[in-house]
Amino acid sequence: MTFVLATENSGKLAEIRDILTASGLPELSVVSLAEAGAAGGVEETGATFRENALLKARAACGATGLPSIADDSGLCVDALGGAPGVYSKRYAGGGDMCDFLLEKLKNTEHRDAKFVSSIACVFPNGDVIEAAGECPGEILRSKRGAGGFGYDPVFHIPALGRSMAELTSGEKNAVSHRGAALRELAAKLRAYLGVKSCGALKIGVYGGSFNPPHIGHRAFAGAALTRLGLDAMYIVPAGDPPHKPLPSGSPGAAERLRLARLAFDGLERAEVSDCETARGGVSYTSDTVRRLTGEHPGASVYLITGADMFLTLRDWKDADRILETVIPAVGARRIGDGPEIRKAADAIARDFGVTPEIIEFEPVDVSSSQLRDALMDGGGREYLAESVYECIIRGGLYGARPELGWLRERAYAMLDGGRVAHVEGCELEAARLAARWGEDERSAREAAILHDVTKRLGADGQLELCERYGIRADELERESAKLLHSKTGAAVARAEFHVSDAVYNAIMWHTTGKADMTMLEKLIYIADYIEPTRDFDEAARLRDLAYTDIDAAVIYGLEISIADITSRGVTPHPRSLEALKFLRTSRRVRRGE
Ligand SMILES: [Fe+2]
Ligand SMILES: [Fe+2]
Repeated sequence: MTFVLATENSGKLAEIRDILTASGLPELSVVSLAEAGAAGGVEETGATFRENALLKARAACGATGLPSIADDSGLCVDALGGAPGVYSKRYAGGGDMCDFLLEKLKNTEHRDAKFVSSIACVFPNGDVIEAAGECPGEILRSKRGAGGFGYDPVFHIPALGRSMAELTSGEKNAVSHRGAALRELAAKLRAYLGVKSCGALKIGVYGGSFNPPHIGHRAFAGAALTRLGLDAMYIVPAGDPPHKPLPSGSPGAAERLRLARLAFDGLERAEVSDCETARGGVSYTSDTVRRLTGEHPGASVYLITGADMFLTLRDWKDADRILETVIPAVGARRIGDGPEIRKAADAIARDFGVTPEIIEFEPVDVSSSQLRDALMDGGGREYLAESVYECIIRGGLYGARPELGWLRERAYAMLDGGRVAHVEGCELEAARLAARWGEDERSAREAAILHDVTKRLGADGQLELCERYGIRADELERESAKLLHSKTGAAVARAEFHVSDAVYNAIMWHTTGKADMTMLEKLIYIADYIEPTRDFDEAARLRDLAYTDIDAAVIYGLEISIADITSRGVTPHPRSLEALKFLRTSRRVRRGE
């Protein structure tokens, strides 16, 4: 079936095609108005997004005689009373939309906003399907990112820490207002077309806590889609799983939903559903099955589970009713599951009169609990989609610490090429010093890898980061913005990689030092100074002291740097002077002077 999309925006057309195909409607072809031989350009006179979407879809349907989809979307900014709203495109009067908005909000602290999308699909027989979606966020103070269109570069999504224009198209589809609206539209279209045409859709429901969702889940979903010949699969993260409580410290339902959307992104005919996370209360499968069978009358519904859940299926709440309506389908999660599953399947067939499908596939040998342990130890990345891993690290979910190889890749990408050798050397030296002084080696490596991540930025970049992260810069730091890279570096390390307070502080004080430094702070200060690529007159003595008397090394380092700064006619930072005074005094006290 061919649908017309009432837009001339090729970015939008591509986005909508992608999502409809991924949502299990690959048999639909979507053409533009021009491709359907019609002229565009209906005046958008509606007072709401919904009215405009309907207006455009009706006009396109009238002009082409084909079912037509139109969307109307825009940005609503709290501080502007919901403006620009339906006037989003025309707001800047032909000027740069982002610049115009930034200027409007120049003196505004409260920057909450949301993208809203309304979609209508109008059929030649007059039937109408509507859907809507929202994406909450905030307006940045300057543009970021080169992707997307419209207001994307100034729209920040706090949960991802990036602007809409910095997301890949897959990530954008997973979180955007239009993505949400299109998924709803796709589900309604599937139901509508299923009822109207074949009447015997095969639908899969794959539930679980997805805590976190990993490549094993995705491989299993893919195998189930193919083996069962499903027209669509709903992947349903449980809000509050009834069978086994989530371990403490697990992310909330909204976060697991977001992770699942990323993990299953691009899996054709599959859609992550919020029907359990949005419902609240205990997530009973019986409720979910009732809802889906209601939405897909006449469809065959497969209840897809992993082996361990399948073995308890007969004890679930309302198991009788569930097994009257669905066909269970089970996969082998670990090699060797086979005989036990077959026995349980035979028992279900005997007692409930429905024969479960057994999906044989090559299982990925990892469980969510093993994966959670691995994440805490700085591993686990190989079992997760890259976007899922990044979201976990950034949010500090599961107490995850970043894998060092991954962290290096990320950090080096933020450096000027010439600085990589210095940072590598600093990590090596910090690890050696940590071993010498009984400090945590991992923390030392993390701090060293990240200590200069913002160093390549000039004064403007440094000050912009100060504003973004609420960093107070003193007068000296404002004058010599280079000094700020330790503060901004610490802020970026925390925002992007969720480093511990100890690592944050070691980065924070690595340039000037400060009074009463921790051992880790001293080690990073010194490692930065003496790492193997450094070459200066006092280096040999400083290296010697670093491994024999760390306080003496820090004192010597401070003395050299203060002398050097003063000789260039620059004022040393008071924090360095305080650091020096503190160390000298405490040594005298220790010696009983
Ligand atoms: Fe530095
Ligand atoms: Fe450095």
